[in-house]
Amino acid sequence: MEGSIPRHVGLIMDGNGRWAQARHMPRSLGHNAGMNAMIRISKRAKELGVSWLTVYVLSTENLASRPKEELDGLFGLFRKYFTVNVKKLYKQGAGVKVIGDLSPLPQDVKELLERGEKDSPAGAAFTLVFAVNYGSRAEIARAAASLSADGEEITEESLAKRLYTSDIPAPDLIIRTGGEKRLSNFLLYQGAYSELYFTDVLFPDFTPREFEKAIEEYSRRDRRFGGINELKR
Ligand code: FPP
Repeated sequence: MEGSIPRHVGLIMDGNGRWAQARHMPRSLGHNAGMNAMIRISKRAKELGVSWLTVYVLSTENLASRPKEELDGLFGLFRKYFTVNVKKLYKQGAGVKVIGDLSPLPQDVKELLERGEKDSPAGAAFTLVFAVNYGSRAEIARAAASLSADGEEITEESLAKRLYTSDIPAPDLIIRTGGEKRLSNFLLYQGAYSELYFTDVLFPDFTPREFEKAIEEYSRRDRRFGGINELKR
């Protein structure tokens, strides 16, 4: 594929529920299909040379408001991914990272996610970042509170260093599937200059080819970061 490849892509995987409902299936089967789509996308992202792919698997709002049955289904998928699928990722020299507040999760899920991160190969060329019980407002408030507790000055840089993402670059591109055109509390601080790509495709139908279309669109865009593009002046 021609053009520039984003180093870091954020992915809001919306539309699993509607995909299942359209097939008269329970929502949990939509999440199951979503997990399979996520696995295919992460493979293609790695092949294309993306270094970080951050997937929004559970927002703080989802955890607070989804029915227990649906959450149990999602926790089941976490158990499956972090015992079986993650090993394949390691074998390819890739790793995982988890961002968000894991404290309210079932203890075994929390431990699996933490272990998944610890067992990741050092210096991986590709990292799949799971945003779990993640919300940007809580993340920013937590970072500010920790600076304040340490008596440190709050600046853009000091705050960025206390975010969950302190060790990875800002996302170049944020993709949202499922038709809504909003960020829903995802990487708000980090995404100040991200390119945004919205598609009506429901997440289980978001194929590697659809992902490539988003990357192609990104590579055609002119990123000026508030300045003037030198080449086009
Ligand atoms: C939003 O769709 C999606 C989620 C709340 C969960 C996303 C999770 C996955 C894609 C699989 C997760 C993988 C692992 C390893 C757990 P929605 O249910 O809000 O869809 P709707 O808008 O159509 O109702």
